[in-house]
Amino acid sequence: DCDRINIAIDGPAGAGKSTVARLVAGQLGYIYIDTGAMYRAVTLSAQRLAIAADQDEALSLLLDKLEIALIRGEEGQSVLVNGEDVTADIRSLEVTREVSYYAASQSIREVLASLQREMAARKGVVMDGRDIGTHVLPDAEVKVFLTASARERALRRYKEMNNHEISLDELEAEIAKRDYLDTKREIAPLIQAEDAYVLDSSGMTIEEVVADIIRLCRTKLAEAK
Ligand code: CDP
Ligand code: CDP
Repeated sequence: DCDRINIAIDGPAGAGKSTVARLVAGQLGYIYIDTGAMYRAVTLSAQRLAIAADQDEALSLLLDKLEIALIRGEEGQSVLVNGEDVTADIRSLEVTREVSYYAASQSIREVLASLQREMAARKGVVMDGRDIGTHVLPDAEVKVFLTASARERALRRYKEMNNHEISLDELEAEIAKRDYLDTKREIAPLIQAEDAYVLDSSGMTIEEVVADIIRLCRTKLAEAK
């Protein structure tokens, strides 16, 4: 379908990827896919069974038994694992603290990347993550590398929390650690794709970021005609 394109949005934690990707998808009438939620869902399932991040064989067996579904609802997206709604549980501190270790697993990355490619096969998808433009969808028509200063990203996340379980400084340190792990891992690390449009959203509003990305998409769509 040459009327539709795929849009990849990568970048570090708290850059605004999910927020912006959801809005861009809404404006274009596209499907939004949160790949981070998929890594979180696998992490939660493994933790519940006390399977550690380095137990590749056990993880592989677990993956065979997991069915992960992203469902669009009235209040955003829900995540189901074998039919159970885990939308809230996958955002816990426990999952957030360990997800980057599980995301380094080859078995997990292979299974999730192939699922993600299937989801994007018919185009018209806005997908956010760490390795979308570089690895999952290297042919995406629009690639954005969305970032912001570490302090601003921590502050954005801090403002989202209603029970301040951790301080702003702790949060910034945890985000920095996760970014470090995501950037340094061997398989499909977080890096800018060579052909990505780099967007530093420090000091920008959500609306400004969305407008910028929509502009890029419109240009690509016009070219594709
Ligand atoms: O939203 P937030 O930045 O907190 O993270 P997320 O997008 O939910 O992703 C959680 C974690 O999943 C990341 O820190 C990565 O370790 C992993 N991830 C990944 O490795 N590859 C992706 N395409 C998406 C997420
Ligand atoms: O997905 P990612 O981890 O990159 O970020 P997110 O989950 O979308 O969280 C970003 C937070 O920053 C949200 O609370 C947004 O409302 C806020 N924000 C933003 O996304 N973009 C801006 N330009 C300013 C604030």
